[in-house]
Amino acid sequence: MPVAPSNIRAADDAAIADAAAILRAGGLVAFPTETVYGLGADATNGDAVAAIFAAKKRPRFNPLIVHLRGLEDVNRHVEMHPLAKRLAERFWPGALTLVLPRKVDSPLSLLVSAGLDTVAVRVPNHPVAQRLLAAAERPLAAPSANASGKISPTNAAHVAESLGRNVDCILDGGACALGLESTVIGFEGEHAVLLRPGAIPREEIEAVTGPLQDATEDSHASPGRLLSHYAPHAKMRLNAATTTSDEALLAFGPDVPIGAMVMRNLSARGDLKEAAANLFALLRELDASGAARIAVMPIPHAGLGEAINDRLDRAAAPRGEA
Ligand code: TXA
Ligand code: MG
Repeated sequence: MPVAPSNIRAADDAAIADAAAILRAGGLVAFPTETVYGLGADATNGDAVAAIFAAKKRPRFNPLIVHLRGLEDVNRHVEMHPLAKRLAERFWPGALTLVLPRKVDSPLSLLVSAGLDTVAVRVPNHPVAQRLLAAAERPLAAPSANASGKISPTNAAHVAESLGRNVDCILDGGACALGLESTVIGFEGEHAVLLRPGAIPREEIEAVTGPLQDATEDSHASPGRLLSHYAPHAKMRLNAATTTSDEALLAFGPDVPIGAMVMRNLSARGDLKEAAANLFALLRELDASGAARIAVMPIPHAGLGEAINDRLDRAAAPRGEA
């Protein structure tokens, strides 16, 4: 689908001021964060939040992450948990989302939490996200800026391809440094629960909280936990040791099997951080190559490998879930 580039703007002061005005008027602005691009709306305006679901064609009202400037703002909207405080001190601003009980007097739209009594909050570290939050003077609800169930965007062109004119303005801040969504942590009693593996590896969280519990069936509803998500058009074949001439190969590490129609390497030196940053962009590239199938070499499970394998499993899952 051809997209007029005119709603992409370099994220300079003037563009950020215009984007803030759009947000205050109830419009939608896509903006860069250190993880992926977000599709932002004023989180206190129910109509604006509803417009996010419409633009993404999300089939259900799934809860969204609310982005805030800092801990002071976070405290206005949610009740902190003792472990949440320690995680916030260690990782904010950054790629960590905390799911916490909503305060009764919080002005956040009820739609952001889709009827749950908790809200997911994050303080992003990206300078453009921070400047936009300051200029808008509003908390911003922002899911990843892609059509529901599709691959998350890690640059402004990805957003334009996926959402086109359904967004009023796309602020271009270049490629996202991390390339994977934030790690989502909830709390049950005294324990921290891993609701979604993400850009901060489990090991780093556990150094603060002790062992994380895994999310159970009745842990909070989580669209990031739907089986099919991040889906390319091509079929996916995981843990591929060899490949064929009708496949596009997503490689990892220095020893790459030959014979694929097209090959991209997540990290030739086998670095998981580099692989995370490249994952969504290379999946998109291989999907656009026209190959019927994308074969993916095995990725180690340690560290960031947990989140990378989580996204690959969902990309390979039977479709129709998301
Ligand atoms: O890195 C990120 O997290 C990006 C950037 C833009 O900040 N945002 C993002 O948002 O990935 P989204 O909407 O695609 O994912 C939101 C995640 C989902 O897994 C959702 O289930 C979980 O957060 N979540 C949100 N509110 C929740 C709640 N009240 N209870 C449990 N999970 C919640
Ligand atoms: Mg998403």
